[in-house]
Amino acid sequence: MNHSTLLTGIKPTGVPHLGNYIGAIQPALEKIQNLKGQSYLFIADYHALTTLPDPQEFKQNVYEVTSAWLACGTDPNKTIIYKQSDIPELFELYWVLSCLTPKGLLNRSHSYKAHIQEKKEDFQIQMGVFNYPILMAADILLFQSDFVPVGSDQLQHLEITRDLAGKFNHTFKTSLMVPPEPLKEEQTSLPGIDGRKMSKSYNNHIPLFCSSEELKKKIMKIKTDSLPPTAPKDPQASIVFQIYKEFADAQQIQDLEHKLKKGCSWGEVKLELFELLEKKFQTQKETYQEFLSNKKKLDQILNEGAVKARIKAKEFMQQVRKTTGIIH
Ligand code: TRP
Repeated sequence: MNHSTLLTGIKPTGVPHLGNYIGAIQPALEKIQNLKGQSYLFIADYHALTTLPDPQEFKQNVYEVTSAWLACGTDPNKTIIYKQSDIPELFELYWVLSCLTPKGLLNRSHSYKAHIQEKKEDFQIQMGVFNYPILMAADILLFQSDFVPVGSDQLQHLEITRDLAGKFNHTFKTSLMVPPEPLKEEQTSLPGIDGRKMSKSYNNHIPLFCSSEELKKKIMKIKTDSLPPTAPKDPQASIVFQIYKEFADAQQIQDLEHKLKKGCSWGEVKLELFELLEKKFQTQKETYQEFLSNKKKLDQILNEGAVKARIKAKEFMQQVRKTTGIIH
């Protein structure tokens, strides 16, 4: 991964939850830390527009997601962090790629098919949903990204991106487009409070940053069995333990395992999880609040990121224009 470029996009859906942290934030930041080359991290706000969110909430969500990634350790001096909507070159590349995209390629997209299943009628699908993968390809190809950390639900989008890169290169006899390699995240899918995969859409999530009261309330709601306090319990079958072990160190895991096997009340175990999370995220939580209450600072960080990103974007689009014969 020497001197390679890594890029990832985050949809602004509000405060991330513990599942996002384990599944996306932590692994991406780890990869960035070990990277010698340039890393790009952007808020995919125009992708999120496909769901037509409430404008005020939408704005706030962008700030929340940005604050969360910064609080978790994104260094704007090392990683170029920006909003997708601040890079006009992207939308130009998006059009160029659209001119190379066979409709059949997008007909096969899982997310489009899922929408058809939901809405039943093809004519009701918005073009933004249908063209979503082309915009994502533009996000990646514009910065000649070698690696893209993604969850398994995004692998098909990476395949489409590789297809379009090949198509462009073949059509214009060039090697301008770099087909990206996906860096697939290990699927440590964290259970939510009801035991299903933690997800906002199931409303079973625990926010990464919230008040202590809210955190405690959520943890107390985690589903448990009805064994009496003294009964020995199987740690592997316990949702509380499944969450605990993702955030604890080896010694803490061993201790709690021992406690459960010996027998103790669920209330006690939940309290241990609460204390662990409170302590682990204390500093990040404070940093998060600081950022969130300083929108000027956030705007400044995002603007500076956009300026840096556009240096590369402008230069690259100029090459695309030349290659396609738009300019001479
Ligand atoms: N589609 C991604 C998601 O839903 C977000 C995204 C947009 C993205 N553009 C990207 C991720 C480019 C990686 C690279 O999570």
